[in-house]
Amino acid sequence: MHQNKGEKGNNMFEIFILNSYEEVSKKASEVVLEVLKKDQVTLGLATGSSPVGMYQQLVDAYHKGQSFQHVTSVNLDEYVGINQDHPQSYYTFMFEHLFKHVDIMKENIHIPSGLGNSENSTNEYELFLQAHPQDLQVLGIGSNGHIGFNEPGTAFDSTVHQIELKKETRLDNARFFSSLDEVPTHAITMGIQDIMRAQKIVLIATGQKKAQAIYDCVHAPLSVDIPCTILQKHPHVVLIVDQEAGQLIK
Ligand code: GLP
Repeated sequence: MHQNKGEKGNNMFEIFILNSYEEVSKKASEVVLEVLKKDQVTLGLATGSSPVGMYQQLVDAYHKGQSFQHVTSVNLDEYVGINQDHPQSYYTFMFEHLFKHVDIMKENIHIPSGLGNSENSTNEYELFLQAHPQDLQVLGIGSNGHIGFNEPGTAFDSTVHQIELKKETRLDNARFFSSLDEVPTHAITMGIQDIMRAQKIVLIATGQKKAQAIYDCVHAPLSVDIPCTILQKHPHVVLIVDQEAGQLIK
């Protein structure tokens, strides 16, 4: 199902409610591949389980001839206090799911650093983002409506910053760690202003747990308590969800 929904005349969500995770992943990869037709591309990338299938599709596209040599990547976020080579760092995630499988140039990969001592720590990363606005930003969504790691309460004009993760976010992400105690308490994230700078945004969500957040994204009044509501102010958001995540917006 494909529909367009304009909220309060500010923007037009392009919404796809599809039947399976595979269909969601395929559609999202098509949105990315369309942008890759440009000569030089800055791609904002996301982690989490939602985009894994999309990355598989992009790796398949690489094997069929799609190059990534003209891509500069900027990632949304990273945990604070774990090394890049930690199995659950977003750095490891990106290499495992995409970067090591395609021909993107290592010097064009940018992932914020949660260790505070590198060229990708807060201020440097913000300056880099400002100089390289995303042609497309890929987003997942937290069950509490967070985007990147911009938790409820984050200012809409926020830039790259460190935040304390909410309990529910740590619980949601505990499935990737051996215990809740192992889940980092803080993260570094693009701010909401950095996400909104993207020319186009593609948001992927599947499963019933995301249904309320997806509803809020499209219909809830704008509020810092539900970070994704800011997307109503963006001119071009493509929302790609399965039936479960889309059940409240049908
Ligand atoms: C984390 C990430 C977000 C992601 C969210 C949802 O909190 N920082 O960028 O959107 O998880 O993850 P999942 O797709 O695994 O549900």
